Amino acid sequence: MSNLIFIAGLFLSLGTLVSSYRLVCYYTNWSQYRPNNGKFIPSNIDPNLCTHLIYAFSGINEANELVTIEWNDEELYKSFNALKQRNPNLKTLLAVGGWNFGTQKFTTMVSTQANRNTFAQSSVRLLRKYSFDGLDLDWEYPAARGSPLEDKQRFTVLCKELLEAYEAEGKESGKPRLILSAAVSAGKGTIDAGYEIAEISKYLDFINVMTYDFHGTWERVTGHHSPLYNGSHDTGDHVYLNTNFAMKYWQENGTPVEKLNMGFATYGRTFHLATQSSEVGAPTSGPAAAGVFTREAGIWSYYEICTFLKGATVQMIADQKVPYATKENEWVGYDNKESLETKVQYLKDNRFGGGFVWALDLDDFNGQFCGQGNYALISYLRSLLASDLPPLPTPETPPNQVTLSPNTNQLHRTPQPRPTITTSSKTADNFCATKTGGIYAKPDAPSSFYSCANGITWILSCPTNLVFRDSCKCCNWP
Ligand SMILES: *[C@@H]1O[C@H](CO)[C@@H](O)[C@H](O)[C@H]1NC(C)=O
Ligand SMILES: *[C@@H]1O[C@H](CO)[C@@H](O)[C@H](O)[C@H]1NC(C)=O
Repeated sequence: MSNLIFIAGLFLSLGTLVSSYRLVCYYTNWSQYRPNNGKFIPSNIDPNLCTHLIYAFSGINEANELVTIEWNDEELYKSFNALKQRNPNLKTLLAVGGWNFGTQKFTTMVSTQANRNTFAQSSVRLLRKYSFDGLDLDWEYPAARGSPLEDKQRFTVLCKELLEAYEAEGKESGKPRLILSAAVSAGKGTIDAGYEIAEISKYLDFINVMTYDFHGTWERVTGHHSPLYNGSHDTGDHVYLNTNFAMKYWQENGTPVEKLNMGFATYGRTFHLATQSSEVGAPTSGPAAAGVFTREAGIWSYYEICTFLKGATVQMIADQKVPYATKENEWVGYDNKESLETKVQYLKDNRFGGGFVWALDLDDFNGQFCGQGNYALISYLRSLLASDLPPLPTPETPPNQVTLSPNTNQLHRTPQPRPTITTSSKTADNFCATKTGGIYAKPDAPSSFYSCANGITWILSCPTNLVFRDSCKCCNWP
């Protein structure tokens, strides 16, 4: 009997030792609104996939307190944190901010000691109330254009005071101290303007460097949004637009390598080709058609990419170590197993603390599109980071729900200038009163469409220049 217990204890401690890399995965509060198989809720999360889960996003109110945003956040927080019952080693964090959140509320909150203190205390209350293990700061970005320059120093003070508050609370409550992390820019100019790298690195438990969105339709030529290295076509400041530069920059300016998490995207960035050429740097005329599920021109989830790959031509960009696919006049840069292998080898060679993924809901989470099992990309990433971990237990697949709700689907990591954003507005129009849930054309406004849910009418707009097509229930080029 005592032998048995000893053996069990030994296995447990080995298991803990082996998973030495972090794998941090973001969950987005708006993926619940995607149609059909794209709909994603906390029960779709496999609690054994990642070491940390981060819930995106919460906000800051007028009183400088950390608050929920979405009407059902409280319910989702509960199911999110209940995942820990199925994996006691799992850590959960709540992210505050995001690219859509702006900078003003952060600026006000950090501007005085009293405001920062209010925020810190409110964050302890909210995190503890819902059993989160920590806070992830997603201020995009301190001292960015139009913000006060001193926000750079004030961000440092914020990190310092939050950590102090969390340490004090941990001692007082006897609970493990709340974790403090941040998602930070991978762009040299934004980094230089916004962060005292060595200073904030003292206070943050880990730092997620957003090594994606380096290229996109704002540039008018094709480019991979998450290359590992610079490419032969990169000149001038473009030599900085790659993962290797960003990770080394954070490291060389004072972040201990074990605190750095490298960013992995489970989405690709798309282009509509303007000419016959399709190599990197080819002329473009905006994004490819919006994905049927993600419904935002310029990006496709990995599961939407899998559909596109049928009949497409795939090329590996030799110097940048990432693939792109083309078909007719559409182009997408993304990651596949081969590029993940190269990137993880790079991560290990540089002894970084781990990786993080934006986002759970953009991978082929239910395995219905790519034929590579559930979470094709993230589970492969997991196996590369910790190849000696036991295989994943078979996850429970929840039933598909065909509920449609407003599309407020937006990515949070987008460098300036931004691609188009789909907007929604609830209206007095009673169109949906007699309709079953779903998407419908709005004949008097070709660039808009109706989304009906529970008899409630939502009018949504396609991204700029696109019109709604009833045949695919998607926004496309006119
Ligand atoms: C999710 O969080 C964002 C904050 O980035 C917020 O603006 C939004 O209203 C929330 N809900 C949805 C459905 O997007
Ligand atoms: C760009 O790539 C070249 C060739 O691999 C390398 O020597 C150079 O250091 C890179 N520059 C940056 C800024 O990463």
